[in-house]
Amino acid sequence: MNKEVVLSGIRPTGFLHLGNYFGAIQNYVKMQEEYNCYFFVADWHSLTTHPDTKTLRESVKRVIAENVACGLDTKKVSLYVQSDVPEIAELYLYLNTMAYKGELEKTTTFKDKVRTQPDNVNAGLLTYPVLQAADILIHRATKVPVGKDQEQHLEMARNFAERFNHRYGDVFPLPQAFNYGNDLVKIMSLDGVGKMSKSENQLATIFLADDDDAIRKKIMKATSGNTPTEPNSVKPDYIQNLFTLLQLVAPTELVDKYEVDYNNCNIRYGDMKKELAEHMVNFIKPIREKAFAIQQDEALLLQIIEEGATKARASAVETIKIVREVIGVRYI
Ligand code: TRP
Repeated sequence: MNKEVVLSGIRPTGFLHLGNYFGAIQNYVKMQEEYNCYFFVADWHSLTTHPDTKTLRESVKRVIAENVACGLDTKKVSLYVQSDVPEIAELYLYLNTMAYKGELEKTTTFKDKVRTQPDNVNAGLLTYPVLQAADILIHRATKVPVGKDQEQHLEMARNFAERFNHRYGDVFPLPQAFNYGNDLVKIMSLDGVGKMSKSENQLATIFLADDDDAIRKKIMKATSGNTPTEPNSVKPDYIQNLFTLLQLVAPTELVDKYEVDYNNCNIRYGDMKKELAEHMVNFIKPIREKAFAIQQDEALLLQIIEEGATKARASAVETIKIVREVIGVRYI
């Protein structure tokens, strides 16, 4: 019954979108059947970039509701909020003594933040990877489903774990990035510029909270350009993206039909987008409605959050006991 421990964190800094769904959440939903899973909302992390907390509670609750609506089963996983598990902060403190200023300053995400928020280069930003390591190591997780942009943080988590083990005794297994299949589905922005993203062009991003009309409008406005003139041409990225989306939400026969049309140079993008929009509406509607219903039900939300915290703390307390023991900071 010793299942491997999977852990991942979600920043509550915006609405979840199709890129999050197909690139991450869908993976979590599969993993919950096989692994001992911990998924959490990283509210402490968000304070390093979003110190104004007026909308924080609402965002945290929405992210929890949306994840449940997407199929995370709180009977199978622990879905919790980071700040409900104070043991993470304690482990962060110990790990901070194992992280060096030089390596933290060299971290890509830190350097990016120095550029994008020069007025708030706080120590929390500098030690962000240490807090992330504490998130992972507190449950002695071995598998961390994350995208490429998080690989450096994971490598740092392994380094901190190794240093800890070397100094105080073998407590932590070394966590590895992990996903089903080698390639995660990447969803591009509908304007064809970069990945679908919370903060870039919102009109080119489909959110799980979008209503039917917003979904239709966004898809109809998606970049499609001209019909190909050469049979069997290579698809430009933005066209491939429309096909990817169609594949994800529509029956194969429909995808095949448009593939044939594309290859014969008689594809009608307007028709394709209309059909894609209807399938997308049918796909998102039940998720949106379920997420909304959960958000309206304060008692249910609280129950979900409490249940998650209870499970997460049971595991965190166990780790922190061992950590205190091996360091030798346990007096009573
Ligand atoms: N840094 C991650 C991101 O920006 C979020 C995160 C915080 C995380 N703690 C984590 C991811 C622990 C995996 C494991 O997406």
